[in-house]
Amino acid sequence: MKFIKKNIHKIIVIAFISVFVACTKEVYTPAKTDVKTVVNQTTTDTTKVITQASSTVVPSQASSTVSFKTSIDPMLSANCKSCHNSSQASGGVNLSTYANVYSNASSSLSAINNGSMPPNGKLSLASINNLSNWIKQGKLNN
Ligand code: HEC
Repeated sequence: MKFIKKNIHKIIVIAFISVFVACTKEVYTPAKTDVKTVVNQTTTDTTKVITQASSTVVPSQASSTVSFKTSIDPMLSANCKSCHNSSQASGGVNLSTYANVYSNASSSLSAINNGSMPPNGKLSLASINNLSNWIKQGKLNN
């Protein structure tokens, strides 16, 4: 008892410190968890955003804008225009001008894809992809 009496102020101080530590622990521990969760969520969100961003960016990078003048028109001249021009429009299809190609683009791609055009031979995969991408990009007169 003497010891307690003598050291009562110390005991009180220690008790206060213990209570204080206990309180701060209780207050701060969930806070830490929250921060962790928030950081984790942010990381996940950022990763998601980056993934979404790259998945939108990558395909457009993969199919860079196809030029009608330097890619589509020369390909049609080499493979199609001998039978599809203004004086001989086989099957009613004229591919001699941009406007003609514009209106016959989808049917041309289908004919190429189903193997009926050109009748003799086959286009390269690169040419077919170019035509497909040019159509997807809005059939630009570029
Ligand atoms: C050797 C001549 C010849 C060449 C080369 C040729 N075509 Fe044709 N094409 C024809 C004839 C003939 C028809 C009509 C009869 C038919 O459909 O087979 C035709 C029809 C078409 C049609 C009408 C739809 C269809 O399938 O019947 C399209 C579109 C077409 N050609 C696109 C093309 C494209 C694009 C090319 C080049 C990649 C091409 N053709 C090359 C002769 C040709």
